[in-house]
Amino acid sequence: MINIIEIVSINKLMNAGVTKPVLASANNKKLYILKTFNNYTETYKFAFNELISSRIAKKLGLPILNFDIANLSNEAIKSCNDEKISDLNICSGPCFAVEYTKGITNINPLLISSSSNKDDIPGILLFDELMLNEDRYSNPGNLIYNKKNKKIYMIDHTHIIRNGLWTNSELIQDSITPPLLIELEGQKYFSYLNQYIHGNSPFDGICQKINKLKDNDFENFFINIPSEWSIPQNEIDQCKKFVKFRFANYNGILNQIRYELPGWKGGENNET
Ligand SMILES: Nc1ncnc2c1ncn2[C@@H]1O[C@H](COP(=O)(O)OP(=O)(O)O)[C@@H](O)[C@H]1O
Ligand SMILES: [Mg+2]
Repeated sequence: MINIIEIVSINKLMNAGVTKPVLASANNKKLYILKTFNNYTETYKFAFNELISSRIAKKLGLPILNFDIANLSNEAIKSCNDEKISDLNICSGPCFAVEYTKGITNINPLLISSSSNKDDIPGILLFDELMLNEDRYSNPGNLIYNKKNKKIYMIDHTHIIRNGLWTNSELIQDSITPPLLIELEGQKYFSYLNQYIHGNSPFDGICQKINKLKDNDFENFFINIPSEWSIPQNEIDQCKKFVKFRFANYNGILNQIRYELPGWKGGENNET
């Protein structure tokens, strides 16, 4: 039995984000950022993308905040009489929820240099390549810096697989080698992170984690998807196949991106 948390109230609209996330309180006394279905999200794929990405990142030991599926009732929606919220036409039902953390999302080189987990940066970059998540490098706000523990956390995985609205035929078409890459060159936030990918084996840690992934892990990433999200089983299966394919070919990604990473010393990729 899965323990679904219950949202008791919506508190406010976050003032950033194309999917119009809201800050909400749950019955466990915690604050969450909720990704709801609303006028700005023509599909629940955004929630699905968040859920599978967060599960994968967690399994790989990457810095993400606690997440869950939270049930949003009509009463909780009505509890907020802010016009900005009612104009969204939020739908009730299960939502992707990530624990709120007080932090700075307008990340800059100074914050990154003072962060306590710079070692996670190669892993974050490879994860984003594997999941084709361009959003962290072109848009501000998809890394959050927690002032207390000085850690950088990954947020926002709504737009993986290029734009988040993938279809089965695109997934099949995009299962090619050498693997597709996200554009890194010239991206502002990538240029901030690039210098922290250095030495002979910057990707060693994340590659060891990837090598340990079993078939069963991939199964678990894609189970218990709320039926209310209406993602057809054949799409869930195709997405699983695609993600497995990307992970099986991570070396092909590293061999291509090394040219964008001047700090990565050494000859051929010796990560495996
Ligand atoms: N867990 C969180 N804790 C604190 N603020 C958050 C959190 N998640 C998102 N935010 C804030 O909300 C903004 C929008 O959220 P995001 O997940 O990036 O949504 P979108 O997919 O619409 O871009 C972020 O830039 C950040 O300012
Ligand atoms: Mg965002």
